[in-house]
Amino acid sequence: MKIRKVGVIGAGQMGAGIAQVCAGIDKEVILCDINEEFVQNGINTITSNLQRSVTKERINQEKMETILSNVNTTIQNGNLSDCDIIIEAIIENVNVKKKLFADLGQTTKKDAILASNTSSIPIGILAEASGRQANVVGMHFMNPVPVMKLVEVIRAKTTSDETFNTTFKLAKDLNKTPVLVNDFPGFVSNRILLPMLNEAMFCVLEGVAEPKAIDTVMKLGMSHPMGPLRLADFIGLDTCLAIMQVLHRDMNDEKYRPCPLLIEMVKNGKLGNKTGEGFYKY
Ligand code: CAA
Ligand code: NAD
Repeated sequence: MKIRKVGVIGAGQMGAGIAQVCAGIDKEVILCDINEEFVQNGINTITSNLQRSVTKERINQEKMETILSNVNTTIQNGNLSDCDIIIEAIIENVNVKKKLFADLGQTTKKDAILASNTSSIPIGILAEASGRQANVVGMHFMNPVPVMKLVEVIRAKTTSDETFNTTFKLAKDLNKTPVLVNDFPGFVSNRILLPMLNEAMFCVLEGVAEPKAIDTVMKLGMSHPMGPLRLADFIGLDTCLAIMQVLHRDMNDEKYRPCPLLIEMVKNGKLGNKTGEGFYKY
């Protein structure tokens, strides 16, 4: 199947990045969110990323304008009815995602691929909700999308060969490295990464060291590009908590219990970069 038109739902940090890279290889993109303000935030993110690339002379002004003109916006899922693939990047909440997949199962064309950028939710759950199990797949990009090379392509038990192969090829066309991963909570990336971030939070809670010291240990001691607490702020503490909750519930293992400090910070609206405060102030 040829992918000509891509719908991206959720214009937050991940959705904007996904729309940008798809538009960058000349796909027609429709970026969708729940209101005009959020859609416009997504366009602003794409514009400032591209502007940085122009300043650094990686692309010229004309290319920037072409990429921007490849992206249209909408606040109605119904306007994605002629897309060949829809990539969902809304909040990490299983009930909200199930509702969306049920809607997409009704409103998109019958052979459209329904892909989720979920960080942790088993793809089989979303496939079942859609009523179009063969067409549903995980397409898990890493943050920041324009920079990071990995895409986990998650194959649920019901994902068809055609859906999987087309999604895998799209990731390659995007100049990413796709990796096949089977359908387990948190996949590979977040089953390994998030317990580490959660443990760093326990280190703060128990007074093992200050956040900056913990991050320095992991940066200089383990050559991580960002310390775990800076990275948690960057991902979004709400998203980190949602991932830990999925791992805790679905793996049914106490080793995945979310750190109480993480729960408290999310309750207090300290979500990291996106709200201006998390383990650090921005
Ligand atoms: N959006 C787009 N581009 C960005 C960016 C952003 N938010 N942040 C940085 N960049 C670009 C910069 O423009 C720069 O590009 P050039 O070198 O081509 O000019 C490049 O990235 C490097 O940026 P900086 O020099 O400013 O800073 P850096 O060297 O520290 O790199 C980083 C920034 C790439 C984010 C690096 O710190 C890093 O790799 N951090 C770890 C990121 C990571 O682990 N991501 C995975 C998160 S987990 C996940 O995504 C899965 C999930 O489900 C939660
Ligand atoms: P975000 O909070 O930056 O953006 C989420 C966007 O989804 C918001 O603009 C919100 O208005 C919109 N939204 C919520 N409900 C919606 C609905 N029903 N219809 C349309 N739009 C809706 O979140 P994010 O960090 O971009 O994460 C999005 C998804 O990507 C999550 O599933 C997350 O787990 C996953 N993910 C996040 C990261 C990361 O590092 N943040 C990395 C990989 C995957």
